[in-house]
Amino acid sequence: MKRFRVVFQPGGREIYIPEGITVKDAINMAGIGFDFPCGGRGKCGKCRVRILEGAGRPTAADKEHLEAGEIEQGIRLACLTIINGDLVVELPYETIPEHKILLATEERSVKIEPHLTKTCVEMDRPSLEDQRSDWQRLKDALVQKNEKYKDLEVPLQILRKLPQTLRAAKYRLTAVTDDRHVLGIEEQDTTGKMLGIAFDIGTTTMVGYLLDLYTGEELSVVSALNPQTRFGADVITRITFAGQEENGLEKLQSAVVEMLDRLVGEAAEKAGVTRDDIYAVTVVGNTCMHHLFLGLNPQYIALSPYVPVVSEPLTFAAEELHINVNPAGRIFVLPNIAGFVGADTVAVLLATEMDWSDRIKLAIDIGTNGEIALGSRDRLVSCSAAAGPAFEGAQISSGMRGAVGAIDHVRFGDGVEYSVIGGGKPKGICGSGLLDAVAGLIEAGIIDKRGRILTPEQLTGTPAERFKDRIVRHEGANAFLLVDGSATEHGRPIMITQRDVRELQLAKGAIATGIQVLLDKYGIGVGDVTEVLLAGAFGNYLDPHSACVIGLIPPELEKKVKMVGNAAGTGAKLALLSQGEFRRAAAIAGFVEYVELGSYPDFASIFANSMSFPTISK
Ligand code: FES
Repeated sequence: MKRFRVVFQPGGREIYIPEGITVKDAINMAGIGFDFPCGGRGKCGKCRVRILEGAGRPTAADKEHLEAGEIEQGIRLACLTIINGDLVVELPYETIPEHKILLATEERSVKIEPHLTKTCVEMDRPSLEDQRSDWQRLKDALVQKNEKYKDLEVPLQILRKLPQTLRAAKYRLTAVTDDRHVLGIEEQDTTGKMLGIAFDIGTTTMVGYLLDLYTGEELSVVSALNPQTRFGADVITRITFAGQEENGLEKLQSAVVEMLDRLVGEAAEKAGVTRDDIYAVTVVGNTCMHHLFLGLNPQYIALSPYVPVVSEPLTFAAEELHINVNPAGRIFVLPNIAGFVGADTVAVLLATEMDWSDRIKLAIDIGTNGEIALGSRDRLVSCSAAAGPAFEGAQISSGMRGAVGAIDHVRFGDGVEYSVIGGGKPKGICGSGLLDAVAGLIEAGIIDKRGRILTPEQLTGTPAERFKDRIVRHEGANAFLLVDGSATEHGRPIMITQRDVRELQLAKGAIATGIQVLLDKYGIGVGDVTEVLLAGAFGNYLDPHSACVIGLIPPELEKKVKMVGNAAGTGAKLALLSQGEFRRAAAIAGFVEYVELGSYPDFASIFANSMSFPTISK
């Protein structure tokens, strides 16, 4: 079989590949973090690369998504371009190093109560007068320190290493235990160090927090793009991939597990410790991420009646999943609520203590799937709204993630002002920027209540007349020219098209419907909500005013909005530091009522109403 050389620019990374694979496969083989939002099916047109040398004929998908001039310049969709010769490929940007991820969190106090205990004991040496077995000797010494060890059990693999360890340590060793088992034995006194790492596995990003399990101190924070994004941007695409591709589930699982293991190593290195110092790992994620991490078939989550394989909290040895931490290390996976409301929502509720609140609060974690919870200590209801990837910038004409080069905020004054992540010329617009842009266009009177972008003629004689030159025709409809091609990084204009507005209406309509259905189910009105807690990366960057102008959040609640940072990550940290919090997570999962939106009686009419924009009072 022939092999070809592929060089990726910038950076010059070089690999040799067999003939007949796609540029997407080559990118993945090179280990380059790159997004394939539609899973590489040629549907989204987002995986553009420029073939600097060796470009072949364009595919049908290239012709559909790219302009003739772009094709001439060598731009192709990586997912469908088959490699039949040596190539030099220019990548627009490598997502992993540039990704902007929310790392700040809102902390709350926690009583530290680690899942594992370390106890150092010194034992008498055996003699003809004292012929107790090695295990009996160790157990007696432990019981002498604490009565709770009297029913301690010891697994075979510990017994196998006990005789040598005991003697090498001159009968002074540290036992690592949970409530009932010896999990590890270490020579001498190692009680001074016990670390843990809490992971929030998002559909898009993964964040890990390395903590000292004695003090709660945060030693390092690491993050990366979830490598599963190369198999699809959203959970449904990944569930389909898991079910339909050969070894799909294995591929998805090993991608996330390998990345998590890599992040463990990075976190240890950053903090100047070793993997061996890490004894506990907690994991939260939506139900699909949870299943894929554990290698559980997620297929039935997506099929009515949307049943997960397991909802209960889980604990197992880290080595079972090939996570390289201390051999005694344990993984603690928080429980799910339902097929589409997972451990990440449980973690948000744990972090925000909504289960103890005497006032009714609304928590929204906006992402591809918006998870929404409403209530207080008396009652909590939750649902999941399929917002789609518009808030992540996917399916938006100039959309991109919140990475360097994305317009993240827009303001309409005499002209249009915007800010770009990382400074410099913009490459596209991310969710928070899109929200601002559409909210500004609504307030300026350029987009009407039903979401139509008005014509220049309709703007004549109105205060919005100053923007009328920015209304252009695009794909047979009106579009608003946000940034002219001369001011962008790639020379293409950044527009808000009619289709973008429709996508945003669908996304915000889904979340707004979820909120309305929960209020109905609870039997309360918007006025009864005392606080709106916005969680997650997108929730933290969006402007609450814009969110209210477009009706994503009921406008009456604008003054009650509070950003709570990565509350799912905070919940994972709490469950890492405290067994009590881990148990409380299980209680929360059992307490929350799940509402299935699709089968709610008034769903269709609520959704139809939620699609339009609220009337602006001027
Ligand atoms: S078109 Fe290539 S990933 Fe969507």
